Amino acid sequence: MSDLPDDFKCTITNWEYIYDLCRTVSTQVKRDDFEPDVVVALARGGWFAGRCICDFLGLNDLTSLKMEHYVGTAQKTGEPQVRYPMPEGSVEGKDVLIIDDIADTGGSIKRADEYVRERNAGEVRTATLQLLGTSDFDPDFVGERLDEWAWIVYPWNFIEDMIDLIAGVMERADQEAFSRAEIRRCLSEYHSVERIEMEIAQPNRLGEVLAEMERRDVIESEGGKWRLV
Ligand code: ADE
Repeated sequence: MSDLPDDFKCTITNWEYIYDLCRTVSTQVKRDDFEPDVVVALARGGWFAGRCICDFLGLNDLTSLKMEHYVGTAQKTGEPQVRYPMPEGSVEGKDVLIIDDIADTGGSIKRADEYVRERNAGEVRTATLQLLGTSDFDPDFVGERLDEWAWIVYPWNFIEDMIDLIAGVMERADQEAFSRAEIRRCLSEYHSVERIEMEIAQPNRLGEVLAEMERRDVIESEGGKWRLV
């Protein structure tokens, strides 16, 4: 999220919504009569989906592959790299379903697909829960296609993303200390995150996020308001 522009639209999701996308992907896999032997879940965004899809499909072979966009000291490379390889024998001769949360540029899932194919897998198919129009790669199975680009806040890293978003808006807004209402106003202004949407997707979480930001020394409280440390 760190290399995004100042203003971008965010969509907050919840477990039920994402679980439904896992079911949609699994239904497509079954309709296609694809019977993978193993699911390769890309770390870390693909983990929840990987586990749920194994359940929907009746599989117990689940492995992980970590892709990274950065090598060395925050030096950005266009192509994502495999950070942690898969254990020997994970995919050789097996039919594989590779799963990730989202294809944005499509770089990660494309590279993972190549990596698995290079390891003499059997049939290899790819899936993402969500697909953005910006992706150059078209996965075989897609939970939903999003016409408008947005940063998707997933339930498994809700706190992490909200901390980044709130710290970001506090840095940019033209004031020092913020009430809860002012934080909500900034989230709406910069990221189109409306109070009601956030409360429907993730009810009563703002206080928890602010407390965690305080615990991590990102903000400090001062007379009922918060300021960046
Ligand atoms: N990872 C890469 N692109 C993303 C997006 N648009 N939303 C959430 N996670 C992402």
